[in-house]
This record gives sequence, C-alpha cells and structure tokens, in this order.
Amino acid sequence: MTQFKRTTVTSALPYANGPVHIGHLAGVYIPADIFVRYLRLKGESVLFVGGSDEHGVPITIKAKKEGLSPQDIVDRYHTIIKASFEAFGISFDVYSRTTSKTHHEVASEIFKTIYDKGGFIEQTSEQYYDQEAKQFLADRYIIGTCPHCKSEGAYGDQCEACGTSLNPLDLIKPKSTISGSTPILKETKHWYLPLDKHEAWLRQWILEEHKEWKPNVYGQCKSWLDMGLQPRAVSRDLDWGIPVPVPGAEGKVLYVWFDAPIGYISNTKELLPDSWEQWWKDPETRLLHFIGKDNIVFHCIVFPAMLKAEGSYILPENVPANEFLNLEGDKISTSRNWAVWLHEYLVDFPDKQDVLRYVLTANAPETKDNDFTWKDFQARNNNELVAVFGNFVNRTLVLTHKYFDGKVPACSELSDYDNQTLKEFADVKQALEKHLNVFRFRDAQKEAMNLARIGNKYLADTEPWKLAKTSMDRVGTILNISLQITANLAIAFEPFLPFTAAKLRTLLNLSDFVWASLGSIDLLPAGQLINTPELLFEKIEDEAIEAQVQKLLATKKANELEMTQLIHPIRENIAFEDFTKLDIRIGTVVDCQKVPKADKLLVFKIDDGLAGRTIVSGIAAYYQAESLVGKQVCFIANLSPRKLKGIDSEGMILSVENTDGTLVLLAPSQAVVPGTEVK
Ligand code: MF3
Ligand code: ZN
Repeated sequence: MTQFKRTTVTSALPYANGPVHIGHLAGVYIPADIFVRYLRLKGESVLFVGGSDEHGVPITIKAKKEGLSPQDIVDRYHTIIKASFEAFGISFDVYSRTTSKTHHEVASEIFKTIYDKGGFIEQTSEQYYDQEAKQFLADRYIIGTCPHCKSEGAYGDQCEACGTSLNPLDLIKPKSTISGSTPILKETKHWYLPLDKHEAWLRQWILEEHKEWKPNVYGQCKSWLDMGLQPRAVSRDLDWGIPVPVPGAEGKVLYVWFDAPIGYISNTKELLPDSWEQWWKDPETRLLHFIGKDNIVFHCIVFPAMLKAEGSYILPENVPANEFLNLEGDKISTSRNWAVWLHEYLVDFPDKQDVLRYVLTANAPETKDNDFTWKDFQARNNNELVAVFGNFVNRTLVLTHKYFDGKVPACSELSDYDNQTLKEFADVKQALEKHLNVFRFRDAQKEAMNLARIGNKYLADTEPWKLAKTSMDRVGTILNISLQITANLAIAFEPFLPFTAAKLRTLLNLSDFVWASLGSIDLLPAGQLINTPELLFEKIEDEAIEAQVQKLLATKKANELEMTQLIHPIRENIAFEDFTKLDIRIGTVVDCQKVPKADKLLVFKIDDGLAGRTIVSGIAAYYQAESLVGKQVCFIANLSPRKLKGIDSEGMILSVENTDGTLVLLAPSQAVVPGTEVK
C-alpha cells in the first residue's frame, strides 16, 4: 500500500439554492469533519476543502421566481450555508464558491487543456427550445405525457409515475414549464466527454484496484460500468455559468457538473496560491471525496475521467459516500420544506450543536438509508449524553472539588478492580482507529461512548462518596483514575463533539492534546487545578420535542393543502343566478340504515319540514348508521331523483373530502328548524 504524505479531503459543494439541513450534515459534512479532525489530532498533514456550488439551472429558476438575479440568490444562500457550517464546527480549511474569479479561471483552463488535447468530441443535435422564454430547455423543465405509461406530467429526464428514464424527445405533447408554451426543436452544438473511451481504465481502476471501496459505492460503479458508458455533454445553452472558453461557443456555459468538482481545486488554489498543486498532483497525496449517494457517478466516474483527460492530476483514493437520511419516515425535501434546517435548529436549540452531531453520527446512513426522529434525538441526548457521559464527568469533577479543593489527587495503590478498569480502556485507541480508518464513524463513536460507560460504571461500583470517612487515599485514587478517563474522553470525542471536547479541556486545564496520548493514564499530573464544574449536557424536555413534531405536522398540512389546491383548483366563475338555482337545505336524520350488498352506501330518512324524503349517500365507511340519527345534515333539495341500488334517492347530502380522502358530513353550527334554506 502506498504511504501517503498528506491527505486532501473534499466534501460535496452544496447547491447555493437553499439552506443546508440535517441530511447534508449527516451524510457528508460530519463524517468528513470527523475524519479530518482525527487526522489533525494524529499530526498528519491534511487539507479540508469545501465551498458552495453556485451554477446550474435550478438557481436560475429560483432567481426568476423571486425576480432577482442568480447572483443575488447564491449570495444569499452562500452566506447562510457558510454560517451554518461554521456554527456546527465543520472545520474547513477553505470554504469558497464557484462564482469566484479563481474558480472561473481554473475551470476554463482545465476545459481548454482537455480541449487542446482532443479530449472532447463536438456534436450538433436538436434540442427543445422555448421561443417565448428564448432559451433552450434543460430536461427537467420540459413536461409531457410519458410514452410508456401515458401518464401526464412526466419530466424530460424521467417519468415519476412509472420510473422510466426518458429523453425529452420521447415525451408526447411536450410543454415548457417556464412559459407553458410548446417548445420547438432547434439545432445546437455541444462538447462531450467520451466516457466510452475511458471505460476500460475505469473498469480496471475501480473494479480491480479499489475493491475496498464501500459496497454501496463499489456496487453503484459496477452497475454503471456494466451498463456501458456513453459520451456526456459538458456544456449547456444557458446564460448562468462559466462561458465555454473556445471560439464559436457564444451563449454556452460549462455544465454545472463539469465545473463544480473543479471547485475543489480552485478553492485549494485560492487558499494556497503557491502550493496548491502538491494537494492535487503529487502521487504521494491521498485524495478523498466525501459525498452523498446521488453524487457517486460524478465523483467515481465523470470527474476522474476529466482529471485523467487533463493529464496532470491524481485520482481519488477513496470515495466514502453515504446513503440518505430520512426525516420521521419521509424523504427529506428542500422543495417540500421537509427538513430540519440547520439555521433553525441553532435558534431552537442554542449551544446544542454537539447533541445534533452526536445523534446524526449515531444514526449515520453509512450502509443504508436511515431515519431521524425527534424522539430518538431526545432519547440519545437524555439517556446517553446526559445520563452516561455528562453524569460521569460531572460526578468526577464535583467530587474532586468536594474532597480535594479542585486539585487532581495523587494515585496510590491500585486495586484489582482499578487494574481491570484500566485494562478495559487501554484498547480504546486501537478500537477507535480500526473504525475511523475505514470510515465507520458510527462504530467509532460507539467506542468513544464506551469509554464514558466504563468511567460511569467505575464510579458507580467504587462509590468513592462512601469512602471519604474511612480512606481518603482510596478516594484520591478513584478520582485520579476518573479524572484521567475524563481527560481521555476529551481526546476521544474531539473528532465527534468538538465543542464538548473544548469545554472539557478548559475544565481540566488540559494543555494541547494529541491522539497518541489516547489511552494514557497520566494526562493530568497530581496537584493540577481543575476548574469549577459546569454541566456538559442538559436534559431535553418533552415540550421542546413536541414543538418540533408540531412544526413538522404543520409542514405536512401545508403541503397537503398545497397539493389539494393543485388537484382541485378553484373552478371557473359562475353567475349569481346560476348559484340561486341550487336549493340547499338543512334536514334532521330520522332514520339511517346500511344499504344491503353495498358497503359504501347509507340510506337516510330526512325530516325536511315537508313530507320527508329518502336520500342515499356514500359515506358508510366513515360513519356508523345509528350514530347519525337525530343529527342535522345539509342536502341539495332540488336535484332530480336518481335510482341507487334500487332505491330512489331524492337529493344529495353534502360532505367534505379531507386531504386523506375521508369524508366528513356538513352540518349547521347549531340546530335549526328542519327544511331551512341555506343561502
Ligand atoms: N451541488 C451538488 C449537490 O448538492 C454536489 C456537487 S459536488 C461537486 O448534489 F463535486 F460537484 F462539487
Ligand atoms: Zn411513465
């Protein structure tokens, strides 16, 4: 295996078209940050590169919707995203953006180099063009009827009803979602990266030489490679992005997935104008990309092919991609606002960044999609962080102050039980490394937590508070060991919970620590002063959790309502005279029975203030017949009678269909005389 001199860690550049949420943090940024902090503690040479992805069609659409420029949109979200990452302690060495001047230069140069080497093919094809909006249409901005399942509203790249991948040219009755007009076909020239020509070395490099990649990553690559690679367009007809830097390319920009990964390089160059190349071109540099699963093909196949075509860059050594995090059972979605937004969490749970970091790592979607629930968040905080970690540290510090004036007591003779405890935690460093080295952060954090459990159990078993009267020496030894474990917790948790680790370090007056000291039992010399204890974690009450659950329920309601409006838009206006033709009245139910052999129908006898009438209604699934007797209902009195299951139905009882499809009967808010008209 290659011995690397340094590591370049990149984390996917989030699109600057919305803020970041827990899914981003759990899938990409926390794992990358844990790994980087671990390497730094080990004294390794590492660079952590991040930034915002500020090009692409969705940003232009959002801008148009808000009547702003794309630059306004990315300025807004770049600022919010950057601040969220900082607040959560994501320790980037550089966090820049793809609208920077450096990035435009670097991306153009890389394109030109590949171009000059003949690494692209040029091809003219017909694409849909919106004559009203005067622009070519990206695949997802064309909708039409699916040629396979015939459902309407299929997108140019995929039909969501039947799941088939589509080419926009396949759509029946295509429509532009920008102007609503029918697009025309127009010739346009683009540059393509001929991935088919790269297939052979990619197969060898991934499938043979990188069998150690995570199974989800390796598997996805294999299936792409087995399907056979096709040339991919690397330019677009758009007025937002990096202009294609060759003659004859007016009005064309680099495809966002071409320029975005180059952002890793540009941002490195912006930070280190003189030494950036060693992080990208020296074969003794290990390159790692942290991403989510939807980015796998771009980082494992397309970007490496670009770098190879350019010729002077190294390729990634590993791409530890994660699966997705769901929220309370549903897919996280920016457009449906189904997310826990980081900037909102910071307001609702101030100074609790480490709690979220802890929970997201404990539930990280490392091998399969996982679910975040507020109940689990609360349980992990209360039962693990507070009850184990916080409780152990607090008892240790309080007792040290109580019995030893806040000074680390000396350690005298060790008992068998002390030795046994020390042995248990001697292996923690190795156990942590075993997992961290292969990107298994959940297991690694479990090991760190195990250290706190060992400490907690040790204190509970030795009960030093009971020994104070008989043997202060013994109390001193127990607290010395507990304090050494506490100092170890600061090191072990630094990658995971950096704010807590920093607090511990201050509490213990611990000077700079290094990973190599993990497992040591003389981190704190006897006599060293310990600061006044302060709680590391606090219990999260049911009310706080309930408030979050309610917030999500409100989102769900709002989404359903929006859906209802979409499906049932307000109908065309009618004249007042048309309305007066309807005779709507209130009646009292005098009898109600199930209609035999019709499980949906109820037959009502209604007191309508006249001779009474019979009405059949399809709400049997939602009401018990007997329970309706005596209730008032609202009915249309002048609807021509219809026969339903052999019964003459004289009118129609009004009900409302809920968003979940259930029916609710309409009734006056207080009883009225039967037969009264509704106006
Ligand atoms: N913006 C992309 C996304 O959010 C990720 C881009 S990663 C990069 O899915 F490599 F292109 F930078
Ligand atoms: Zn379909």
